[in-house]
Amino acid sequence: MSHFLPRRLSGSLPIYPITSDKLETWLKRQSSFVQNWVKNNHYTGSTGSLLALSTPDAKITGYLFGVGKDDSVYTYADLPAKLPLHEDGYFIDSAFSKKRANDICLGWALGCYAFQTYKNGRKKQFARLVWPKESDQKHVEALAHGIFMARDLINTPANDMGPAEIAAAAKKIADKHKGVSYSVIVGEDLLKKNYPAVYAVGKGSPRAPRLIDMHWGSTKNPLVTLVGKGVAFDTGGLDIKPSSAMALMKKDMGGAAHVLALADIIISLKLPVRLRVIIPAVENSTDGNSFRPGDILNTRKGITVEIGDTDAEGRLILCDALTEACRDKPKMLVNFATLTGAARVALGPEIPALFCNNDKLADKILKASVAHQDPLWRLPLWPSYRDMLNSKVADTNNVGGSYAGAITAALYMEKFVDADVPWAHIDTFAWNASSKPGRPEGGEVLGIRAILDVIQQIKK
Ligand code: BES
Ligand code: ZN
Ligand code: ZN
Repeated sequence: MSHFLPRRLSGSLPIYPITSDKLETWLKRQSSFVQNWVKNNHYTGSTGSLLALSTPDAKITGYLFGVGKDDSVYTYADLPAKLPLHEDGYFIDSAFSKKRANDICLGWALGCYAFQTYKNGRKKQFARLVWPKESDQKHVEALAHGIFMARDLINTPANDMGPAEIAAAAKKIADKHKGVSYSVIVGEDLLKKNYPAVYAVGKGSPRAPRLIDMHWGSTKNPLVTLVGKGVAFDTGGLDIKPSSAMALMKKDMGGAAHVLALADIIISLKLPVRLRVIIPAVENSTDGNSFRPGDILNTRKGITVEIGDTDAEGRLILCDALTEACRDKPKMLVNFATLTGAARVALGPEIPALFCNNDKLADKILKASVAHQDPLWRLPLWPSYRDMLNSKVADTNNVGGSYAGAITAALYMEKFVDADVPWAHIDTFAWNASSKPGRPEGGEVLGIRAILDVIQQIKK
């Protein structure tokens, strides 16, 4: 990856990680010129502060950088944009554990992302880092590549990212790697192949709905199935959203982007699993042909659904996908979806809600989430709230009323998951609401490093 250099070159400049309490000791070992320079600049080593060091004849010799507690993936993530471009790049003058080196490199890589597809003129450039010797370049590159791809998919506006383009993005991954099978069911064929809910949600759009299905890996390996919500744009349907709520709805295919990123990473790293990826891709539009409030839909499982709200479309397309996913009894089934505003009200933009029908799996995911600084917070599949989904005219309603919106959405989906399949449902925002180091405002991938770790732990 061009944001890194394979080895230190003669002109590579050191970055000296420093903290306020260590600055005095560090200064003692420096020339009186450097000591005076640091003092005269009133440099204190505070977190995030950067100071160029030079020779008396003004040749830059490196940078002091305040790292604070120095325990975050994003400690160095601002530097690629802040440091001057420098042909021979930079290196961090420190020793690391392998895990810490990987985290720092990932943070550096993520700091080199900008969505520039639609900007004319000069593209942003970023400073390059020499790989620390402890780092696992393949691992970091696979992660960064997958995350960049997913951020691009989410950031691409819906006029250029419809159901067909989501399918094309999946096909591109299938074509890039060896041994990936790819198939897609489009439009009315969804009815013939028994995906009635996917069809019903997507039929109001001139951009036909589809069901994407990918397989990779030896049948001898344990099966992991990933399902992602691919709503190219969510107007709310006939229960139309107000403009403020619709503004960001190009990101409603964020779940699909998450599972494509994970798939790309898993296949790049050739993890010893068999992988299946299922993405229902639709546009939730308003049209004479749109599904309506009060309609009763059939589903792949045969459960009938009364439509209480056409804006609760994600769970409808996902329920058919989950039914199909359970058919070959995966060892682990994970879905990602920008499913509810309620999960955002509860946990805000940075913390996806985790729902899980298996406590052991949930514990593993939460442990990995902490270890990788990839936050997730568990919410309960609270059994007595199931009644909130009751319908007088069908087997279930698609919405549960005014309480516990994230939970009732998860309880709706649970009806379509076999109880013996360990299942995790991640209700995510897929978006940075404001810019932070390594996390520019816009499309974001959340929770995949935690899930990747759990996938790596799966035994044959
Ligand atoms: N895509 C939205 C959920 C969403 C909204 C995610 C805002 C992130 C930010 C989903 O399809 C939706 O509209 N859900 C409704 C459900 C309601 C009608 C029961 C919601 O959350 O308001
Ligand atoms: Zn919706
Ligand atoms: Zn939606």
